Amino acid sequence: MLHLHNTGPGLSETHNDITVLGAQRERRAHRVDSRRLVGPEEGIAVLNDRIHIHKTQQGTDHADLAQDVRYGLTGIPKTLPPKYFYDERGSELFEQICDTPEYYLTRVEHGLLQDVVNDVVALTDPAVIVELGSGSSKKTEVLLRAAIDEVSPLRYISIDISEQALVEAGERLIRRFSPLTVDVLVADYENGLNHERVRNGEGNKLFVFLGGTIGNFEHDDAVELISSIRAQMDDDDRLLLGADRVKDTAVLDRAYNDEEGVTAQFNKNVLRVINRELDAAFDLESFEHRAFYDPHRARIEMHLVSRLSQQVTISALDLTVGFDRRESILTEISRKFTVESLARLFREADMVIERHYEPENGYFSLIVARPQ
Ligand SMILES: C[S@@+](CC[C@H](N)C(=O)[O-])C[C@H]1O[C@@H](n2cnc3c(N)ncnc32)[C@H](O)[C@@H]1O
Repeated sequence: MLHLHNTGPGLSETHNDITVLGAQRERRAHRVDSRRLVGPEEGIAVLNDRIHIHKTQQGTDHADLAQDVRYGLTGIPKTLPPKYFYDERGSELFEQICDTPEYYLTRVEHGLLQDVVNDVVALTDPAVIVELGSGSSKKTEVLLRAAIDEVSPLRYISIDISEQALVEAGERLIRRFSPLTVDVLVADYENGLNHERVRNGEGNKLFVFLGGTIGNFEHDDAVELISSIRAQMDDDDRLLLGADRVKDTAVLDRAYNDEEGVTAQFNKNVLRVINRELDAAFDLESFEHRAFYDPHRARIEMHLVSRLSQQVTISALDLTVGFDRRESILTEISRKFTVESLARLFREADMVIERHYEPENGYFSLIVARPQ
């Protein structure tokens, strides 16, 4: 059973009779050339005629990392952008987080998507699905399965900075869904959205942003990101967005403090990345993971707290960073939304919410929105 907020003409209050298309839509496995990405740093690799890999350097290169680390660790308070968690190991750790019993987000969003997918596909009728921060694209399979039909080809464009996760997902998807073609864009959101593969193409586009990742942005930045998605949309295009909701503090705190310590490893991975890429000397044992829900700001804050007073050298930046005992680096925020705060977000980005789905416990939202 799920609730549907009535945001458009002719919609009912509740919506509980949706059937999910089954595995009969899966196609015969299609063998893929297992070569990894070869060729120039920036360019296109064709693994077979149904998957193209496009690499852009922007957003993932050294110059950005160096600049962001210098800026973040010399500021007060110290901060680091969350995108640097996601090297190959970070992406694997994120997948493991999704499987922890405490991290309800993935399971709830997946279940909700299964319940509403036919309605989403009927409403949006996509020829192209463009996903931001797609990672392993596991939940997206639900959407692809429902959107692929016998007559019209479906194109999937995945955008992520995590190359390994993207390529593995792209290969898996073309094996699983044979009428599908895939464009993998190794790029940050901004460069991905402006890529010619996204700008061009026939038919309705459905932009997808799942996982509650919108919560990693401060309000103004979230409005800016949704506005830049909107800037790529025609009147018939739609955005499907997943957002985590305000709920019991204990449930939220547990989700970011799993007993096995996977989230702690994920958090510390950013220091590993900086050690490797910028020749830094962070001792991971001397930092501890701290994550808590701040009800006033309706967000989880994730920190790395220095256990002692220490100096850390970052050779590639010719920089030494001093930490007081218990001083922390803010590594991620994860904002939690209400129906009202989501409505405000879309309104400020000049988008109209057409559907707002939630499970019975109101743990998560899936929203379909169109340009105003
Ligand atoms: C929280 S995970 C969500 C993954 C997936 N969408 C899901 O729902 O499970 C965020 C994803 O966004 C990617 N990402 C983070 N920052 C990014 C950026 N600035 N540009 C592009 N991708 C980014 C990460 O590599 C990761 O795959």
